[in-house]
Amino acid sequence: MLQIAPLLAWTTLAAAASSLDHWNALNSSVGGRLYVGIPLARPCFELADTAGSTNATQCEAVRNGWTNSLFLVDQFGAFMNTQWGSCQKTSKSCLIHGFNVSDPSPSDAPNVCEQGSVPSFYIDVRNASDVQAAFTFSRRTGVPLVVKNTGHDYKGRNSAPGSLALWTHNLRSLSYNASFVPAGCHISKVKPGVTMGAGTIFNDVVAFAEANNITVLTGAETSVGASGGWLMGGGHGALSNTLGLGVDRVLEFKIVTPDGSFLTANECQNTDLFWALRGGGGGTFGVVLESTTLASPKMSLQVAFAAFSPNNTNATRGFYEVLAENSLRWAEQGFGGYIGPSQAIYVTPKLNSSETAATMQPLFAYMKSLAPNDPGVQFFAVEVPSYGAFFDKFITGAPVGENAVIASRFIPAANFANKTSRATLVDALMQTLAHVTYSLGIMVTTPFNVPDDGSTSVTEAWRTSIWSAIAEGAWDGATPLANETAAYTGISNAANFLRAITPDAAYQNEADVYEPNHKVSFWGTHYPRLLKIKHKYDPDNLLMCWHCVGYDPKSPRFSCYI
Ligand SMILES: Cc1cc2nc3c(=O)[nH]c(=O)nc-3n(C[C@H](O)[C@H](O)[C@H](O)COP(=O)(O)OP(=O)(O)OC[C@H]3O[C@@H](n4cnc5c(N)ncnc54)[C@H](O)[C@@H]3O)c2cc1C
Ligand SMILES: *[C@@H]1O[C@H](CO)[C@@H](O)[C@H](O)[C@H]1NC(C)=O
Ligand SMILES: *[C@@H]1O[C@H](CO)[C@@H](O)[C@H](O)[C@H]1NC(C)=O
Ligand SMILES: *[C@@H]1O[C@H](CO)[C@@H](O)[C@H](O)[C@H]1NC(C)=O
Ligand SMILES: *[C@@H]1O[C@H](CO)[C@@H](O)[C@H](O)[C@H]1NC(C)=O
Ligand SMILES: *[C@@H]1O[C@H](CO)[C@@H](O)[C@H](O)[C@H]1NC(C)=O
Ligand SMILES: *[C@@H]1O[C@H](CO)[C@@H](O)[C@H](O)[C@H]1NC(C)=O
Ligand SMILES: *[C@@H]1O[C@H](CO)[C@@H](O)[C@H](O)[C@H]1NC(C)=O
Ligand SMILES: *[C@@H]1O[C@H](CO)[C@@H](O)[C@H](O)[C@H]1NC(C)=O
Ligand SMILES: *[C@@H]1O[C@H](CO)[C@@H](O)[C@H](O)[C@H]1NC(C)=O
Ligand SMILES: *[C@@H]1O[C@H](CO)[C@@H](O)[C@H](O)[C@H]1NC(C)=O
Ligand SMILES: *[C@@H]1O[C@H](CO)[C@@H](O)[C@H](O)[C@H]1NC(C)=O
Repeated sequence: MLQIAPLLAWTTLAAAASSLDHWNALNSSVGGRLYVGIPLARPCFELADTAGSTNATQCEAVRNGWTNSLFLVDQFGAFMNTQWGSCQKTSKSCLIHGFNVSDPSPSDAPNVCEQGSVPSFYIDVRNASDVQAAFTFSRRTGVPLVVKNTGHDYKGRNSAPGSLALWTHNLRSLSYNASFVPAGCHISKVKPGVTMGAGTIFNDVVAFAEANNITVLTGAETSVGASGGWLMGGGHGALSNTLGLGVDRVLEFKIVTPDGSFLTANECQNTDLFWALRGGGGGTFGVVLESTTLASPKMSLQVAFAAFSPNNTNATRGFYEVLAENSLRWAEQGFGGYIGPSQAIYVTPKLNSSETAATMQPLFAYMKSLAPNDPGVQFFAVEVPSYGAFFDKFITGAPVGENAVIASRFIPAANFANKTSRATLVDALMQTLAHVTYSLGIMVTTPFNVPDDGSTSVTEAWRTSIWSAIAEGAWDGATPLANETAAYTGISNAANFLRAITPDAAYQNEADVYEPNHKVSFWGTHYPRLLKIKHKYDPDNLLMCWHCVGYDPKSPRFSCYI
């Protein structure tokens, strides 16, 4: 991480929130690992109301790394979706242009680097007592807490103005136990398990799994955390159709709850908490220090790939038609993957190569029909020896370093049932696509072959759905409030075409920030039970995040939301 030197006395900031003594005491109780939260682009700005100083070398590093998630994940002051380091309500920010990082104008005077929503202080968390100290501090001083891990969140649940953050990024341990028994369970519960610190990212997990000749489920990006918000919110990946969601596979959590207890939660102890952590969402029930997840044997996979030129927009409707026509069968055959307006990647562990070629024939025939007029057409099926090989070759990740908004819908199997329902679905997809400012992504990552056994708290709608369709919008840099409002309304309206033909259900980690009826959308029938568990472990609401279980929209910590 860049060592950005504070310019303003940090005591000025401290005084605004609490007394200096409190902060000094906190710093000693966490071994001196309390730091000032500084916006990433601070070294580029001459004028500032925030800590730090200009530094051309550091500014260059910031520009070079601004759209690289592996750089950003190491910086406390960075947020992948940049509006969450800004105070959107007051248009206060410290941003350069993600669409053109070499453009110097955003940081030129009279523009000012402002603290925005970047937490004032953070603790570089290394153990349970760090977290316990933070809970005690927050209870005593009223300073709001946030938990930040990788900074990937789409809904700003990892930042808040004037807050103290618990940064779990440096909890990066990884170990494999082929005979893992959850603590307190009978030996008969033995399973192969990978235990990972809360800050562990997908790249590390995939490399570790390869090295140990096993498969561990991850999502489709290099630096999303495998043991933080991704996991507690559901956690989908390309193999979820057959392996399940992250929450289906987790065997144990180690967590510090807001009452100060350091607990182990699994199917044999603290079972209510275990259920809540399996889908209730991050930043709500405590701070997870590590989790253990089921390891599967290494497996070879069949991959099918199809793409045409992005500018060949006339071909998209026919493409969606072919996908809609065949998706029910592909879901039954174990396929997962990712679909864009001009590209699809499918992968399954259940078929062999000839079965894959046969079942993908309609898609490949469509590609063949486009080929004479589109030099960008590509299609093939290939076997890869492992999930790691698939991840390295086919996973490209999503853009970061810009303001991003999304709104999403689960698309149930019923929408694929017959000609009429499929035509309605394709119409809605085309309408949505026409109204997005960035793109429409379809995640073929629902646990179609993994039934709901009541052990998780995600919405039941995951189990009956084939796709999660995500309308995506993006805008750049510091923006007037009216433009921000337009971005959120625009994406929400785009998703309305899909809302009109689907039940009230969406993936909480990839959802509309202003999701109507969010309790039902994210948790189905589970919300009342989740709320009870929240009150049991966090009676003072020390943890609170946007649209999280038990949140109060009027809390000052949400003052930067528009
Ligand atoms: C580029 C990109 C690609 C993505 N790809 C996928 C994908 O393939 N599959 C998928 O399911 N999702 C994906 N997501 C969404 C992802 O699940 C969410 O962004 C998720 O919130 C990330 O969690 P995190 O811990 O990495 O990040 P953060 O933003 O740091 O944290 C997210 C939330 O979890 C809480 N949290 C984090 N760590 C802890 C902890 N240790 N204890 C308690 N609470 C914690 C935070 O308080 C916050 O509320 C993607 C997002 C992006 C931006
Ligand atoms: C956690 O770290 C602090 C500071 O480095 C140390 O004093 C403390 O003993 C550690 N606590 C545990 C439980 O390891
Ligand atoms: C906390 O203490 C350490 C070590 O004494 C020091 O380097 C650091 O600057 C202090 N943090 C703050 C916010 O003052
Ligand atoms: C600028 O940043 C570089 C790299 O972090 C550091 O080595 C250097 O000392 C800084 N310069 C000043 C004047 O602070
Ligand atoms: C990016 O900004 C630089 C500096 O202002 C400018 O010269 C360049 O043309 C811009 N590039 C694009 C693609 O707009
Ligand atoms: C694996 O877990 C088992 C059961 O809890 C335990 O007895 C064993 O020591 C662990 N092995 C390693 C290498 O940690
Ligand atoms: C790796 O795992 C696979 C599947 O379980 C097994 O067939 C193979 O023998 C293992 N390879 C090594 C080198 O252990
Ligand atoms: C798409 O772009 C390519 C190359 O940029 C060009 O050759 C082709 O004509 C374009 N196709 C359409 C349909 O615009
Ligand atoms: C796209 O379709 C429209 C209407 O069918 C047609 O007029 C146009 O020529 C097509 N464009 C291309 C590049 O094929
Ligand atoms: C795939 O499986 C089918 C049915 O089980 C079998 O007939 C076929 O020979 C297999 N193909 C390959 C390449 O193994
Ligand atoms: C088509 O499927 C939809 C959704 O499952 C259903 O409501 C409708 O009755 C079906 N129509 C026909 C003609 O089967
Ligand atoms: C804000 O929106 C207005 C109206 O659409 C547009 O003209 C302007 O360029 C936008 N400003 C920014 C900074 O995006």
